[in-house]
This record gives sequence, structure tokens and C-alpha cells, in this order.
Amino acid sequence: MSRIHIPRIDASQITPEHIWVSRREWLRQAGLGALALGAGGLLPSAALGADSPVGSAPGNPYAGRPNPRYTVNDKPTPEKDVSSYNNFYEFGTGKRDPYDHAGKMQTQPWSVSVEGEVAKPRRFDIDDLLRLAPLEERVYRMRCVEAWSMVIPWEGYSLSTLLKQAEPTSRAKYVEFVTAVQPGNMPGLDERIIDWPYIEGLRIDEAMHPLTLLVFGVYGKRLPNPNGAPVRVSIPWKYGFKSGKSLVKIRLTEKMPLTSWVKIAPGEYGFYANVNPDVPHPRWSQATERRIGDGLFAPRVKTLMFNGYADQVASLYSGMDLRRYY
Ligand code: MTE
Repeated sequence: MSRIHIPRIDASQITPEHIWVSRREWLRQAGLGALALGAGGLLPSAALGADSPVGSAPGNPYAGRPNPRYTVNDKPTPEKDVSSYNNFYEFGTGKRDPYDHAGKMQTQPWSVSVEGEVAKPRRFDIDDLLRLAPLEERVYRMRCVEAWSMVIPWEGYSLSTLLKQAEPTSRAKYVEFVTAVQPGNMPGLDERIIDWPYIEGLRIDEAMHPLTLLVFGVYGKRLPNPNGAPVRVSIPWKYGFKSGKSLVKIRLTEKMPLTSWVKIAPGEYGFYANVNPDVPHPRWSQATERRIGDGLFAPRVKTLMFNGYADQVASLYSGMDLRRYY
């Protein structure tokens, strides 16, 4: 994660916000949802994944109801950047690699097992997961540890909804996320940077927090493969690496899971990884960030404590030394 790549973004490719907002509003009112956005051809289907419908029909299961309580007002990152400038090391370490290679990932059939310290362990088929609760659209800030950021309209519901189904026991102190490994479909697996599968984790109270989102879509469409199809998490107050993509297993545990980046470089990447402008990475500052899509010459944005979500989450860490538990 230490390499910073400067994206080449053509200013003419960026849709001004008022056009984006009014077009989206018009589409919603017309009841066409993401169908027409998809027809706009923002991403070729090969990049989205061979088995993914591009866009969606009326009655689109991926167009969540906007939830203003969990929506920031920042300008959303253009859709093409959200799905073509990614970290997904299973497909390579370059930001463009997931866009170029993730189309081969097989996302059907797919299931996610919820197991470990739960009274009712269960394997959920992806369609059952999708139907478990109505999807909400939440516009979240995403701050990568590499000091770039995006603003993303996700479609999903709180992870707590799923975890409650499995009835966590009193010994469940942590949640481990295990993600997919598909030899043959993931060229990045050959680079043994990570001891695959990519593992992430949260403390149980973080996992049950209403902001922690189980994500099935983005921009009113099915999650594109580069963003972690068919299901991932998004934890907006933490550095992006905490948000595991293409989940296959969620394991509740008594002990803190050994997560991938902590295993690789514990002095650089902590288990908590809360966005914190006052605690620099050992090799670079975390005080500011570059908003992808704003253009190369746009001023950097000040990074906010807990990525701007302090009101909602600071109480989870009261009494903790955040320099020690980075
Ligand atoms: N999940 C898996 N399985 N593999 C990865 O390499 N990268 C993480 C996270 N989830 C990663 C992953 C990192 S470093 C970031 S910043 C975010 O995904 C990026 O999510 P995005 O590309 O959808 O913005």
C-alpha cells in the first residue's frame, strides 16, 4: 500500500455535480433508477464482471432508499473513478489492475457463512443476503491509508442486521472477515505480498455500529467486481484497508483476529486503523488527502478525525490511547 500512483484523469470526463444530481433525481422520479445510468455506458461490462447485469431494470434490487442520516454532503466521486482506481491486491498492486483483471472473478454462485461464536451458524446464499433487509443508499467518505479519498454512494444495510441473525454469544468479542481466493481468476495471488486470503477484522461493538455497512451495490447498481462484488463491508471512519471485499466468511471470535496488514507490517498498520490526522503513518503524514476526481491541481483536503464521523463513533474509543492503538 506504500506506493502512490497519480491517476491520469481527463477533466472532460468528470461530470459536474449539478448535472449528476439532477440527472439522478430525474431518473429516480422517472422510476428508471440505475437502468439509464447503466445505459450511459460509464463502465464496460467486462470490467464489471462477466456475470453482472450492467445497470438494472425497474424494480432494481440495488437501488437503495437514500438514508440522509448516513449521507455526507461532499460531492460524490465520479462513478468511473470509483470502479477504476482501486486497491484489490488479488488482482495486482496497481490501481488500475482490478479494473483490468477483476472481470474474471466468478461471483455466482456465492454464499457467505457466518460462524464461530454464534448460537446459529449459517451459510447465506447471496440472494438471501440481498433480501434480508431493504437496501439503503448511504453516501460515505472513504479515506485510504495512502492519503487519497473518495465519496461513494453505497447500497446496503447495516452489518448488525446480518450478525443478529446468527445470534452472537457472550464470548464474541471480535469479528473476522475472510475474503475470496480464486486461483486462476486472480492474477495478483501469484505475488505473495499477502498470505491469502485477505483477512480483516473489527471489534464486536465496531461491527455492530449502525455505520458499518454490508454493501451490495454502488451508484444504484450491483457492486462492480473491482469494488468487491458481490458483497463487501464499508467502515467509513477507518482507513480503507479495513473494508474487506468479496466476503466469503464472517467469523465471530473471542480473540483479536490477525489481520493481513498487521501480519505484514505491524509497525505501520494497526488493527484499529481509525482515520486520524494527528497520528502519521511512519513514512508519511495523514493530515491531508487527495480527493480522487477533483483533478490533479485541486487543493488537498484536510483529513478529519474519524474521517468526519467523530460524533457517531468517538465514544467507542473513550479512554483509549489512539497513538498506541493506531
Ligand atoms: N479487500 C480485499 N479482499 N483485497 C484488497 O486488496 N484492499 C483494501 C480494501 N479491501 C483490499 C480489500 C484497501 S487497501 C482499500 S483502500 C479498499 O479496499 C479500497 O476499496 P475501493 O477500491 O472499493 O475504494
